[in-house]
Amino acid sequence: MSTPQIKIVEVGPRDGLQNEKNIWTVEERVRLINYLTPCGFDEIEVGSFVSPTWVPQMADTALVFQRIEKSENCRYSTLVPNQKGMELAITQNVRNISIFTAASEDFNKKNINCSIEESFERFQPIMAEANRKNLRVRGYISCAIECPYSGPTFPEKVAEVADRLWQLGCAEISLGDTIGKGTPETTVAMIKAVKTRVPINNLAIHCHDTYGRAIDNIEAAIENGVYIVDSAITGLGGCPYGGANAKGNVATELVLAFLNRKNLNHTLNAKAIEVARQFVLNR
Ligand code: HMG
Ligand code: MG
Repeated sequence: MSTPQIKIVEVGPRDGLQNEKNIWTVEERVRLINYLTPCGFDEIEVGSFVSPTWVPQMADTALVFQRIEKSENCRYSTLVPNQKGMELAITQNVRNISIFTAASEDFNKKNINCSIEESFERFQPIMAEANRKNLRVRGYISCAIECPYSGPTFPEKVAEVADRLWQLGCAEISLGDTIGKGTPETTVAMIKAVKTRVPINNLAIHCHDTYGRAIDNIEAAIENGVYIVDSAITGLGGCPYGGANAKGNVATELVLAFLNRKNLNHTLNAKAIEVARQFVLNR
């Protein structure tokens, strides 16, 4: 395989912790991110400015963002679902935000209480503000392979939503296999459809490892030109509105082992990852 350097986005402090039954304190979240900073990630998701009624695990993301030690070598991002979330992010001088929608109407309704169309209406003022403030915006598409409520997703539907996020000005679009139902075949079919609309260099693959196929799916995505990969330390996580099937994200340490096995270039620091992993396991 000949690919450019693989970039890793560490989503554990957000996608991981948002689904933990035993809620992490602000101090623990800060310590986790401080352990993750020397690991060589392109970006670390710090948390999300969503409703604490909906996702109590992500309450106090503002405090977490304030207290972490930030390195200039890494981007620190937060999820923003609406204008209220955007205001909170701006108050904290967050420079990298992620907006999120889905390729499934049923999932969007459960996750952010609106249709796909309505989510794009919410994104308009967020993007206008992001442009004014020169913020970088990542766009997420959930259920890029399958929805826990309405079944398999048509690749063309994912391509259509990706195209809209791209036209809106997202710098990067992360394609989420929210419930881990993907196979290399369905992952490739989806990526092939999306890359007719959005440059491959601006696509990320976001796999949950529910059925142990995440690494195979990531390999298939990389073989098809994707070089941005989302992962979570120790495989923390799941989506609170993904149903019982939204198990953890693919583990960062498994991605690291895979990249090394395949001799793929990356910037990850194995020792720092092991220290962060031990911190999570011994919490
Ligand atoms: P809503 O209830 O429709 O919102 O929720 P609302 O506008 O009607 O407001 C209701 C109350 O929430 C009000 O408070 C608002 O102020 C408050 P009240 O007046 O009743 O006291 N509120 C907020 N508070 C804090 N921050 C905010 C905010 N907005 C409103 N931003 C909403 C709509 C989007 C807020 C809600 O549905 C929500 O927070 N959903 C979050 C869901 C979530 O975080 N899901 C997980 C992330 S997505 C994911 O994991 C998938 C991904 O990993 C990719 C993949 O794997 O597929 C990215
Ligand atoms: Mg996810």
